Parts: sequence; C-alpha cells; structure tokens
Amino acid sequence: MKPTPIILDVDAGIDDTLAIVFSLLSPSLRVRAITTVAGNVPVRECTRNVLLTLQLLAHRLTSIPVVAEGAARPLKRKLFTAREVHGRDGIGNVSRLYDAPTLRADSRIAVDVILDTVRRHPGISVVATGPLTNIAAAIAADRSTMRRAREIVVMGGAFHGLHNTGPAAEFNFYVDPEAADFVMRSGISIKLIPLNVTEQCVLAPSDLRATADPVVGRYLRRITKFYFEFHKRTTNVRKAYLHDPLAAGAVAFPSLLKYIDGYVRVEGTGRYSRGLSIFFPHLSVRKNAELPEWVKRVLREKPTVRIATR
Ligand code: BDR
Ligand code: CA
Repeated sequence: MKPTPIILDVDAGIDDTLAIVFSLLSPSLRVRAITTVAGNVPVRECTRNVLLTLQLLAHRLTSIPVVAEGAARPLKRKLFTAREVHGRDGIGNVSRLYDAPTLRADSRIAVDVILDTVRRHPGISVVATGPLTNIAAAIAADRSTMRRAREIVVMGGAFHGLHNTGPAAEFNFYVDPEAADFVMRSGISIKLIPLNVTEQCVLAPSDLRATADPVVGRYLRRITKFYFEFHKRTTNVRKAYLHDPLAAGAVAFPSLLKYIDGYVRVEGTGRYSRGLSIFFPHLSVRKNAELPEWVKRVLREKPTVRIATR
C-alpha cells in the first residue's frame, strides 16, 4: 500500500517529537512538511527541536521534509507555555547535549508551506498536535485549498469532565481557544482526538529499551526522562501519555479508534471556562423541540467533526 502523505503541525514538545519520529519512521506515512507553532515552548525553540530531530534521524530517511516556522503567539492572546511538562527547551532540557542543528527551516512561513503542500498533494492529511493558530490562519487565508486536504486530525479538547490546563480545558485548546473554535466550525473534515482518549494510550520506560537505532534510541530515552518525571510527580505512576503520537497513529492505522460524528465548539470568553470544549452528537431533533436557537442552527449544519471515543 502507498504511504499516506501527511503534514505535521507541531509545538514540539516531547510528545510532539515522539509523533514526529513515529511518523518519519512509519512505513504507512510519508511526511511532506513539518510546521511549527508556539505552544509548549516559544516557536523558535519548537523549530530548533524539529530540525534537531530531523538531523538525528536523517540517516534513516530517504528525503528530509520541508520545515517552516509559524505563529509566535495565539490569535488573540499572550502565549501560555508548558515548560513544566516539556522542559525549558521543550525536549526535556537535552538540547544542550547536541550541537545546534545545521539543517535550516524554509524561508516561507508555516501557513504558506501548509497551503502549498496541500495544493501539491490534494487528499493529504494534516495532523495538528499543538494550538490551532497556524491551521486557523491557513483556513482563513484560503479555505478552498484547505478543503482539498482529506482531513485535519487534531489532538485537542477534552470531554467527560477531564482537563489538564486550567479548570476546564485541554492544553492545546486552552492556549488558543479562538483558533480551536474557528477550526471546529470551519466545515472542513476533522478528526478530533481528545485528551480523554489520548490518556488511555501510555508509554512505559521499558517500551524504549528495544529501539534498534542507537542514535535515535538514545535521543528518545533522553527526552522522555523529563516527561516520565513530570508524570510521576503528577500521577504517581512511571508512565507517560502519548497524546500526539496517537493523532499520527490514527492516520497510520485508520481502524485504531472509534468515532462519532457531531459538532464541537470551544469556549473563548467564559470567566471560568477558557478553552472548554463542548461536543454534541448529530441527532435528529424532534420537530418543535425546545432548544436554543443557536443549537437548532448548529444542528442544521452538516456534522464535519468526527470525535474519537476510544
Ligand atoms: C497536549 O498538550 C501538549 O503539552 C502536548 O504536546 C499535547 O499536544 C496535551 O494536552
Ligand atoms: Ca503538542
């Protein structure tokens, strides 16, 4: 089978980096571009981390995907980072053990590279594992091109009361709720892989022992040390959530997850609920049912978001 072409839009990030390594080495996927967005750490560091990862994997690759830097801050807010989860440099403070990458990012900005890559590879899957700032900007700039992607697979949102940032949200949606809401309402086909599903997918230190390639294996063990320590502090267990790799895994293994179709909205203005994700399934509503006008309006739209349930 021909590998599925993908674009990765990342805020690299330890688990983003695991998703990048998985995607580059998976025979089912062909990474055409990697774009960066501010989130876990500022965007400069995200770009450096992507270039370093690519450089360390170069000997295993037949071609190096284009890398482009994207938004330095969310659409309407100041950047909120997650250095306590990913380290000061975003990769568990191990960047100092390596020379600065000699690979360079493209001179174009992420939005231009995303749009250009979708135009060249219609039917490509866009996998977004950071705040949705770049993706929202790409849709705003050229919606009809973005419609030519097969789907946008998003790691984000949290349902069933689960959250990991602030009182009500998942990190990626918390950082840029306006972008998340815009993308969810865009009418473009989306697969949403939320926190309550990604937290069921865990990595143990022993899973990395068998990594065949010594350079890649050492890098993965180094960057995940900090991530395991964070999870040990917060969950008291030596395991780590594979949020972002699961989004890439959902493309590599299309029958891995179960989905239901519906609508998602993301709260931007709530006093307590910044980044809260709201899901309602696509139902046939009773005629004359007493629903708020906005819900009736939404239910008349075609549901374009498929939410992973497990
Ligand atoms: C998400 O938040 C980030 O810290 C991770 O990289 C992941 O994309 C999980 O909520
Ligand atoms: Ca991420």
